[in-house]
Amino acid sequence: MITSRTRLDRYLSHQLGVPRGDIRLILAQGRVTVDGVVARSIHQVLDKFSLVEFDHKPLSSSRPRYIMLHKPRGVVSATEDERHTTVIDLLPGDDNSDLHLVGRLDFNTTGLVLLTNDGHWSRALTLPETKVPKYYHVCLEKPVTEEYAEAFLRGIYFSFEDVTTRPAELTIINPYEVKVVLEEGRYHQIKRMFGHFNNKVVGLHREAIGNLPLDSTLLPGESRELTRSEVHSLTEKAVRPTSF
Ligand code: URA
Repeated sequence: MITSRTRLDRYLSHQLGVPRGDIRLILAQGRVTVDGVVARSIHQVLDKFSLVEFDHKPLSSSRPRYIMLHKPRGVVSATEDERHTTVIDLLPGDDNSDLHLVGRLDFNTTGLVLLTNDGHWSRALTLPETKVPKYYHVCLEKPVTEEYAEAFLRGIYFSFEDVTTRPAELTIINPYEVKVVLEEGRYHQIKRMFGHFNNKVVGLHREAIGNLPLDSTLLPGESRELTRSEVHSLTEKAVRPTSF
């Protein structure tokens, strides 16, 4: 994959295993396209979004992929599983082996999951210091009070890891339904935070990550590629999606 700006001749020479001096001729023959346009100049600069094709075939792993999936219940956030359907199984096409998950959701949690083959991008999104907020809709077994919101903001102590959770926002929609914004992603974090009050989470749905809401046209199990601007905006400073 192209990870930074690269000149076309250098990239082709490496990918095709031919000397840089021969690239001019290959370009003159019109055999190379970049994003669908015949490339003529050895000086053309590629970025990580450029799709380079040689004789109408994409050059191997020349293009990073960024996918949003509406995860249904009962699907594992893993790339392989012997017993259950995985998020990868839900994607169209059969060459998805290069993809990895950008943060997991539990088996019965629904909503926005991101997948990519771009390790730089997923790292930037998941580094603890990046603090990309994740937005959840939560349904509870017992009624919630304002006391929960105060405790979530102070942080809840997890004895197993000996940590206190970062300040989290909790907004009550009605006594049995709330919105929660987390800036971290610990194991079963939301369930354990409500577990502190002995209140069981009966429904959990991730509505957005950073400024990227789950596309409302995607039915559970459906996915689509992110646009360039969505990819960029996610790693820029997070702006709250309009519905929050
Ligand atoms: N918190 C949880 O408990 N589960 C999830 O899937 C996501 C956040």
